[in-house]
Amino acid sequence: MKTQRHLLVTSALPYANGSIHLGHMVEYIQTDIWVRFQRLRGNECYYMCADDTHGTPIMISARKQNISPQELIERMHREHTRDFAAFRISFDNYYSTNSEENRELAEYIYRQAQQLDAIYAKEIEQYYCEKDGMFLPDRMIKGTCPACKAKDQYGDACEICSATYDPTQLIEPFCAVCGAKPVLRKSTHYYFKLSAFTDKLKAWVAGGHVRPEIQNKLREWFDQGIKDWAISRDAPYFGFKIPGTEDKYFYVWMDAPVGYIASTKNWCKKNNRDFEDIWRGNGFEIHHFIGKDILYFHTLFWPAMLMAAGFSTPTRVHIHGFLTVNGEKMSKSRGTFIKAADYLAHLDPEFLRYYYASKLGAALDDLDLNLTDFVNSVNSYILGKVVNIGSRLGKIVNKKLDNKLTSIDPAGALVLQEIRTAIPKITDYYETLEFNKAMREIMTLADKVNKYINDAAPWETVKTDTAQAAKVCTAGLNALYLLTGLLKPVLPRISEGIEQFLNVPPIAWDAFDRKITDHTINEYTHLAERIDLAAAQKLVSTTAG
Ligand code: MSP
Ligand code: ZN
Repeated sequence: MKTQRHLLVTSALPYANGSIHLGHMVEYIQTDIWVRFQRLRGNECYYMCADDTHGTPIMISARKQNISPQELIERMHREHTRDFAAFRISFDNYYSTNSEENRELAEYIYRQAQQLDAIYAKEIEQYYCEKDGMFLPDRMIKGTCPACKAKDQYGDACEICSATYDPTQLIEPFCAVCGAKPVLRKSTHYYFKLSAFTDKLKAWVAGGHVRPEIQNKLREWFDQGIKDWAISRDAPYFGFKIPGTEDKYFYVWMDAPVGYIASTKNWCKKNNRDFEDIWRGNGFEIHHFIGKDILYFHTLFWPAMLMAAGFSTPTRVHIHGFLTVNGEKMSKSRGTFIKAADYLAHLDPEFLRYYYASKLGAALDDLDLNLTDFVNSVNSYILGKVVNIGSRLGKIVNKKLDNKLTSIDPAGALVLQEIRTAIPKITDYYETLEFNKAMREIMTLADKVNKYINDAAPWETVKTDTAQAAKVCTAGLNALYLLTGLLKPVLPRISEGIEQFLNVPPIAWDAFDRKITDHTINEYTHLAERIDLAAAQKLVSTTAG
């Protein structure tokens, strides 16, 4: 008997100042497939997320729209929730970092760090825009790169020569909001003494919680020396005020990951559970899914904050690469910055789930959404190899065989055996996030099923030998049952439709031994539409401009 695992899983919290796009969806689909897989295996698995609501960009975006930040984040929360639901992302809780739970927890972690002497104040000089009346974060200040002299570069790094620098080093700096020349102003800030956690962090990294290539990256950072982290920002700022100060706020990246715990706590309250069992007990594994751009936050700052407060550190941080569209970085001008809502207006969400699964491996390689490849792969794999088994055999069983499945013929039994033999391998691929390998394996099996059906040609034999035709259809639909179960983490809607058609209870990983013989099935109903390339290409042109 397999022992049940207890898992708390998160995806990064999307910023509340923008719509969900297909790049984001890589992460939410990857996480959701893994979560669904864990649940189907019989593990206890909760999936927590929230909107990341604080920070200067959100404050400015609200100002521009003439609404309050609260109004903006509520609007975005509705939009994000709607998009995720349409893609069948099965969060147990989708909360907000602008919540009381999050405020309490952020303050609590801060106080714990204070008690450890891990917080100190320091006066620094920063650029301030007198016109906007605020200190300018690195990304809100631009100027000429001190290294290569490229114009119009951000305050932290040059996009032309990749140099990183301090905003005060920029030549001819200007405010990215209003264009005014900023002035230097002194201000006191609070720092988290990350350097004091170096040894503990090194031990955590060595514990195998990230892939080996990430461990190497982290070792490089350790060798360069871990710098302390400024966790405060000056007013005006949309966020939580730091306790014991008048006008200092927690930097958004301080309270954002705390949102993972806050979302759990909020869910626990609604479900009569104790969040400390999850975040302090040893019984629960904590799994974070993130993109490679936010690695530093999740593998250094966040574990250190958890250590300071005595919460569980991540069991595993799973890191994925970035989405490109037709081989290039997503771009508004090329029309490839495709919003989730625009995709949903044209195409079936299940298809994108499959396509991403077929492309995603465990490493951090980028993945490409190539529209031609997308259309071909959906049509020939999901429709041509899997759904097709149901539609072809369904027609015969519904029309000619009184909806009855009987027994399995020997040749069919061999095919079923082959599928069952491959299940442990496929299970392992899901577990280790090698979804592309899982998909390849499942489609190879589907090929064998289709070959078996073609060779037996039940549409012919049914004319002369209904008993034999019934056996072939029974074997073929048993194969479909197994393939459906194996694809269920990826294709929740289509799988449900097939379960309905086969008249079986929801398939889970412990139901693969089941044989559906001497059984009555339901009418086959159409499960998915082929896509044509022209329709898919509309996605790019409608979003452009
Ligand atoms: N708010 C922060 C995360 C805070 S977590 C405590 C953030 N938000 S985000 O909206 O910019 O990104 C959310 C997630 O989507 C991140 O993990 C990011 O890596 C991922 N992606 C955003 N664009 C992406 C692609 N083009 N491709 C793949 N993933 C991408 O970062
Ligand atoms: Zn300004």
